[in-house]
Order: sequence, then structure tokens, then C-alpha cells
Amino acid sequence: MAEEKKCSSTSCGKSSCEGCDKAKTDFSVKPHAMSHIKKVIGVVSGKGGVGKSMVTSLLAVTMSKKGYKCGILDADITGPSIPKAFGVKDKIMSNGEAMLPVYSEGGVPIISINLLLQNETDPVVWRGPVIANTVKQFWSDVIWGDLDYLFIDMPPGTGDVPLTVFQSLPVDAIVVVTSPQELVSMIVAKAVKMAELMKIPVAGLVENMSYFHCPDNGKDYQIFGESHIDEVAGRYGLPVLARIPIDPALAAACDEGRIEEFAGSCMDDAVMMLEDR
Ligand SMILES: Nc1ncnc2c1ncn2[C@@H]1O[C@H](COP(=O)(O)OP(=O)(O)OP(=O)(O)O)[C@@H](O)[C@H]1O
Ligand SMILES: [Mg+2]
Repeated sequence: MAEEKKCSSTSCGKSSCEGCDKAKTDFSVKPHAMSHIKKVIGVVSGKGGVGKSMVTSLLAVTMSKKGYKCGILDADITGPSIPKAFGVKDKIMSNGEAMLPVYSEGGVPIISINLLLQNETDPVVWRGPVIANTVKQFWSDVIWGDLDYLFIDMPPGTGDVPLTVFQSLPVDAIVVVTSPQELVSMIVAKAVKMAELMKIPVAGLVENMSYFHCPDNGKDYQIFGESHIDEVAGRYGLPVLARIPIDPALAAACDEGRIEEFAGSCMDDAVMMLEDR
């Protein structure tokens, strides 16, 4: 009967329901049957170059060192940087039915478009829908195995890919990365408001390139100006998860594919706060 197919609610969510708005707007994608992922954390920022990939890498490395099984989905299709930070070069293999991630030396499974391209310098010149589908496949067509945390490194801004990830993947929380510059409050606001719109909780803010600790005189210098992170965090009622200094050793570790060897403790508090969620 026609009545059985329709409901009066706007959100019953049944895929068979013709009257329900949720059914029409449910873009969620199922993970592969052999993926069992407990928590999905997106790393975002309203702006490019603030250190999202660095923070994603450090979160996965720090969590792994604590004994959690962590993976990284590099959702930055046109500017992937995770394979380089972890020094992985092998190509993604397929068992004919699904893709298998490439494992870093420390055992972190990674999926990135750069691990599918013949040359890492080949540009990806694709239209938005193709890019969005690729990101969805990185979730649905990959055998991630058993993971405690899957971190998603997002491209900058609030465009097509973050929208696809928020709509299609079961993101438990996002971490917003900023740098201490004047525009920060506007940039954080954009990311936080997008998360609100998509009903994704914000775990907190990370201020990267917060200061430089001079090894010669032991003083901290605020190279990019005074920090406004506490003010912004207070405005949105969010915790500050970490303040990462400008550290040439960190940049070198990233550039040389040795991020897993970086011994800093800058993400320890952030990891504890994520564990408590
Ligand atoms: N705290 C830091 N100290 C030193 N170098 C850093 C720090 N954070 C990031 N960098 C360097 O700055 C550059 C940009 O960082 P990263 O790639 O993580 O930014 P991003 O936000 O992911 O950029 P994009 O928006 O292009 O994806 C990298 O070369 C990285 O090594
Ligand atoms: Mg990046």
C-alpha cells in the first residue's frame, strides 16, 4: 500500500520511505565488510598551509605509540602529502575486489591518491564529482582491517571534499588546525560553522606554528604575532588541544619521510583529550 511507503515524519531515515527527507538526503557510504573502524577523526582548516597534514601525521604517530591501531585516509586528492611525510612509496594493491592500504614502517595503513599514481609528480586534474567519488572509494573500497582511529587529512577550506566526507563518512569528530595570524578567528569560524551545519562535533583546536623556542637563549618568540587561540576557543566553547611550535626538526622529519621518528611530545595532551571523548 502506498501509505506504508510514506511517513509523516521528515526524518524516519528508512531508505524505503518516499516521504522522508532524511532518506532523500542520506549520502552515507558503507565501509568495506572487512573494515572495522571504531573512531573517525577529520583534520580540517578553513585555510591552506597551516599544518593539517602535519597534525594528522602527528596524531596518528602519537596514538600509534600509545598502542592504538591508527590509519590515515589522505582526502587531499589534488595536494596529497601524507605518503611523503611517512616515506611510503609502494603502490596500493588490489585483491580484485578492494584496495589494500600501504603500511608505513611503523605499521600505519595509508591510502592516498599518490600511492595510485604512476609518478608522485603527476597532477590530478579532475572535476569535483570524480574527486568526491575517489574519496568515497577510499572509505568503501579499502580493506582497512581493525582500527581504533582513522584520521582523515582534508584539503583546505570548506569545499567539495570536506562536504563529501562529512555527508558520506561517519566522522565522529573534527580537529580544527589554525595558525596564530589575524585572520584566524574568521577561518576557525568557517570550519566550526560548517561542522555545526553538518552536525559533526568539534573535538577542539590546534594552533600550529604557535611560537619558536630559541635553543640559544631559551626564550619563546611569537613569529606570526600574538596568539588569539584562547579567545577564539572561548568564543566557541572548544578546548585548545595543542600549541605546536615552529620546529625545523619537525619540518625536516616531514620532508624526509621520517615523521614516525619525530620524538616530540607536542600532541600528547591532544591525544589524551581525544581518548577521553
Ligand atoms: N610546526 C611546524 N614547524 C615547522 N614546519 C612546519 C610546522 N608545521 C608545518 N610545517 C611545514 O609547513 C608546511 C605545510 O604544512 P602542511 O603540509 O602540514 O600544511 P597543510 O595545512 O596540510 O597544507 P595544505 O593546505 O596545502 O594541505 C610543510 O612543509 C610542513 O613541513
Ligand atoms: Mg595538507
